[in-house]
Amino acid sequence: MVGTSQELFDYIAMKLAEFVNKESDNYHHPAGRQRELGFTFSFPVMQLSIASGTLMRWTKGFSIDDMVGQDVVAELTQAMKRKGIDMRVSALVNDTVGTLAKGRYDNKDVAIAVILGTGTNAAYVEQANAVPKWHGSPPKSGDMVINTEWGNFKSSHLALTEYDNALDVDSLNPGEQTFEKMTSGMYLGEILRRVLYRMANEAALFGETVPPKLKMPFVLRTPEMAEMHHDVSPDLSVVGSILEDTLEISKTSPMTRRVTVAVCNIIVTRAASLAAAGILGILKKIGRDIAKDEETQKTVIAVDGGLYEHYIKYRECLEKTLKELLGDQSRHIELVHSNDGSGIGAALLGASHSKY
Ligand code: GLC
Repeated sequence: MVGTSQELFDYIAMKLAEFVNKESDNYHHPAGRQRELGFTFSFPVMQLSIASGTLMRWTKGFSIDDMVGQDVVAELTQAMKRKGIDMRVSALVNDTVGTLAKGRYDNKDVAIAVILGTGTNAAYVEQANAVPKWHGSPPKSGDMVINTEWGNFKSSHLALTEYDNALDVDSLNPGEQTFEKMTSGMYLGEILRRVLYRMANEAALFGETVPPKLKMPFVLRTPEMAEMHHDVSPDLSVVGSILEDTLEISKTSPMTRRVTVAVCNIIVTRAASLAAAGILGILKKIGRDIAKDEETQKTVIAVDGGLYEHYIKYRECLEKTLKELLGDQSRHIELVHSNDGSGIGAALLGASHSKY
């Protein structure tokens, strides 16, 4: 995540080579035909063609300065050459766009794709004539895919707390990805740590001394937070053992454990509600937020990412909030989990842009 672009792309090329070497004997690649790749790259890119694009900025804790402004496909192509891999990238695809492609391939009612994982973002199908940035001739379908990069959304209506502000200042990308920092998996555990730290300092939540590990940024990860939040044991023993294992806080009282779970709940309720609000925003943009008549078209939203997949309470809160926001129209809106949609969708787009 931190280093040079050559190191990053050599690593990716090495993993690709390992993958190709593991290909089963049942698969025989046609002789003389180059392998083609759909390349999922989950960062903001200025993309002017299907198989090239320059990195605009890093997000999600990546920091490889020499890469910004460079063509990520060219970098990968060079790395593959260095490793002796005979392959070409036929499509460069953001993970949201991959998820949208896979979702749409399975079900024509899919119009929006959302990633809720380490980061968050959404893509949707827009009418091409509603896209002022587009200057070429209109696409045959009349539609165009928009990658919103909503993780970078910021507004005075987003009520930031002192924890959000402090997390932002300490991050590698201060002032950027505000919505993502309130909503996605990379940050929820860290917000929890910051709240618990203040409660330890000001209200002796963990006793007279403040547990030293609680000072370490990112020591509490969102998967552990989810485990605590999902604890259904009568004495919250899972919460107790996670606090012990990750923060070296032993013998926590039942009250301390309950408070910890309550804080998890507050942070996740906010995050999932914001994600639901983002989805409603896109539904409004494409006029699918209000039921038109009995024939109202169904709208399916394909969702991928570890946060959505594993943090059940997050997912439940997202679904509940979206339902509330939509009222009657919620009958026509459906969220589906698109498992590895981003990877499979990139493969589909890579195949459909094959040169063979
Ligand atoms: C970050 C990236 C975005 C990606 C999202 C989900 O927000 O900037 O491109 O889609 O994470 O992985």
